[in-house]
Amino acid sequence: MELTLTTKQERVSNITIYPSLLQDFNCLKDALSSLDKSKPIAIITDSNVEKLYGRSLQENLLSLNFKTHIFHFPAGETSKTRATKESIENQMLENGLTADLYIFALGGGVVTDIAGYIAATFCRGVPLIAIPTSLTGMIDASIGGKNGISVPQGKNLIGTIYQPKMILIDLSLLNTLSKKELRNGAIEMVKHGLVADRAHFDYLETHADQILALTPSTLKKAVYDSCQIKVKIVESDEIGVGQRHLLNFGHTIGHALEKLTHYTMSHGEAVAIGILVESYLACLLNYLKPSCFERIKAIFNKYQLPLSLPYKIPIDEMLNAMALDKKTLNGERRFVILQDIGHASSFEGKFCTPVDLSLIKNALSWMNSDITFGYLR
Ligand SMILES: NC(=O)c1ccc[n+]([C@@H]2O[C@H](COP(=O)([O-])OP(=O)(O)OC[C@H]3O[C@@H](n4cnc5c(N)ncnc54)[C@H](O)[C@@H]3O)[C@@H](O)[C@H]2O)c1
Repeated sequence: MELTLTTKQERVSNITIYPSLLQDFNCLKDALSSLDKSKPIAIITDSNVEKLYGRSLQENLLSLNFKTHIFHFPAGETSKTRATKESIENQMLENGLTADLYIFALGGGVVTDIAGYIAATFCRGVPLIAIPTSLTGMIDASIGGKNGISVPQGKNLIGTIYQPKMILIDLSLLNTLSKKELRNGAIEMVKHGLVADRAHFDYLETHADQILALTPSTLKKAVYDSCQIKVKIVESDEIGVGQRHLLNFGHTIGHALEKLTHYTMSHGEAVAIGILVESYLACLLNYLKPSCFERIKAIFNKYQLPLSLPYKIPIDEMLNAMALDKKTLNGERRFVILQDIGHASSFEGKFCTPVDLSLIKNALSWMNSDITFGYLR
């Protein structure tokens, strides 16, 4: 199954979804047939994926006569730093790699973010091929070109927008992904449905068991539809000044939670709570009907999502952590506000709406009282 993302500046990413790619030598050979074999390949991956798929991919690439190097960093969100980027770049330079190369980003969203940032800046930009291995990586992080690292002040604050030439999605890789990470990916699919496509939400709602069981036909449709939603949004707004804000739904709260819990909460867990709190906010604003809010809670329960805060988070700390959110304008806190399942409200032509501080505090109090210690009322 194929999709093409073409930005207004004619930057093109070809996305192909395979039932199996890395374990199928001939399929891999075909997928990479347009690459120039005189250029070396640098595979960038994390410590988990290196063992599972990195070494065998390197062997297959060597068999295809590509000179291939592999670089990895410790798996996990806390590796998304300047130090990791610098360390990989230094290793690449020490191995004699310069402008004439391909970077393969093999891993989850942390890898595609770091490798994407390296590809955008190494020798002022080298071609990037993404092979996402987590569900979040497949339907979200690898698509749209946003990359970057986090700093103590906040998440994803440094980075670029740089489109991969190819995104190769191998659904069979999900067989080794933990159920927890699979559910994390499902959250981002649900987010796509909530902000842009009611039919996608309906499908995810009625096929939760099959998706969690990785039933091939259901999974393929869900992944394809979710990728397509992201492609359409990025095509209309590559740099994030309009429609692309939609993809940030749940992330204003989610990123603050990740930062304040020192990344002990996974991105998916934090975003799931963020989606709930920001939906609650939409109810307080009388944009979203309580029945829709109940459906959102119910779908999260269907996906058996880990909806728990490790402890009550002080509201002033949340407000401080949210201050550097990219949607904040002149100190005004703005959120993606849902109007219905599949539809977010627009404010002055943008999909982020200023919200009164008192309502934000109200929603955060709800979070602390209703989503603490694994209990969602
Ligand atoms: N750039 C974007 O547009 C964008 C969009 C969404 C998320 N993100 C970023 O992505 C990150 C979250 O991505 P993630 O959830 O993939 O996290 P991740 O990359 O940390 O992967 C989660 C875990 O799963 C492991 N893993 C990955 N693939 C596997 C496989 N096939 N089998 C077994 N284990 C596997 C990883 O080693 C890691 O331990 C966050 O940093 C988030 O900010 C970026």
